Amino acid sequence: MGRVDGARCPIPTPAWLSFRTDARYKAGVGDIKDNSEFWAAYDWAEGGTEWSQAWGATRLLFHGSLYPRIAAFVPTGHLLEIAPGFGRITEFLLPLCDRYSGVDLTEKCVANCRQRYAAESKATFWQNDGASLDMIEDSSVDFAFTWDSLVHADDGALRAYFGELSKKLKPGAFAFMHHSNLGDVLDPAEIPTYRDLHGRDSGMSATKARGFADEAGLHCHSQELMNWGEHILKDCITVVSRPTADSVAPSPQITEHNRFIDETGNLLRVHSIYGGHDPNRGHR
Ligand SMILES: C[S@@+](CC[C@H](N)C(=O)[O-])C[C@H]1O[C@@H](n2cnc3c(N)ncnc32)[C@H](O)[C@@H]1O
Repeated sequence: MGRVDGARCPIPTPAWLSFRTDARYKAGVGDIKDNSEFWAAYDWAEGGTEWSQAWGATRLLFHGSLYPRIAAFVPTGHLLEIAPGFGRITEFLLPLCDRYSGVDLTEKCVANCRQRYAAESKATFWQNDGASLDMIEDSSVDFAFTWDSLVHADDGALRAYFGELSKKLKPGAFAFMHHSNLGDVLDPAEIPTYRDLHGRDSGMSATKARGFADEAGLHCHSQELMNWGEHILKDCITVVSRPTADSVAPSPQITEHNRFIDETGNLLRVHSIYGGHDPNRGHR
């Protein structure tokens, strides 16, 4: 009987390898203008499923790594996704809300999502300027979410979004913000030892996120620092809420997840056993 383990699963390696060798991507995409140019020029042939390969498929990423982290906030009423790209995670968020708003900087991403989810009457997609959420009514959002997008955004964009969330969230509502932590951990002397910084912004950090939340009058509940394929904790998920009149500011729970690769590796192992039963689903 053949034995397959996570480490030896065949991982298809098409388009995204050339993406990873792009010097700008390796060093961090940059400011809003850089992101806008980069994502407009990006080859979206695989719709973002290429970034699900560490899990085997997006459904493993969602159900194994994302759902357990957002389970306390869904199902919900109005869900706002910041930077959905081609809607890779959107597919899994839609059944968890009554109303969905997606806001992305890149025109072709918005156009693709509008077409892909045309039958979803609860979903609306907007293009924005990379910082403003003007198109969302104040105090209307029950849960805001962003994954694998603002890791490439600089501190200016994150600061703007925290400010916007303080108006757009309903009082008491939460936001799940995935962003870079390189600013807290990057050691310039160690740069040659890093394998791939996955385009994380070099200036954004967990410390700054707490400061931006504070400045915006949001409460910071938790920060999970994660290593994402490197030995440094280069990613962070910050969970904030818009306080109600009688909320007491919590002490944020800050945790370090040094073995994120084990989390993805176990799901990849599961996928290698059970995931091939429907070849039509591919990396979805
Ligand atoms: C790596 S893709 C990820 C897309 C999606 N979240 C996913 O996981 O498949 C990055 C996306 O972030 C968007 N983006 C980058 N900076 C942004 C910003 N400041 N505001 C809104 N969207 C942004 C890009 O247009 C692109 O669609």
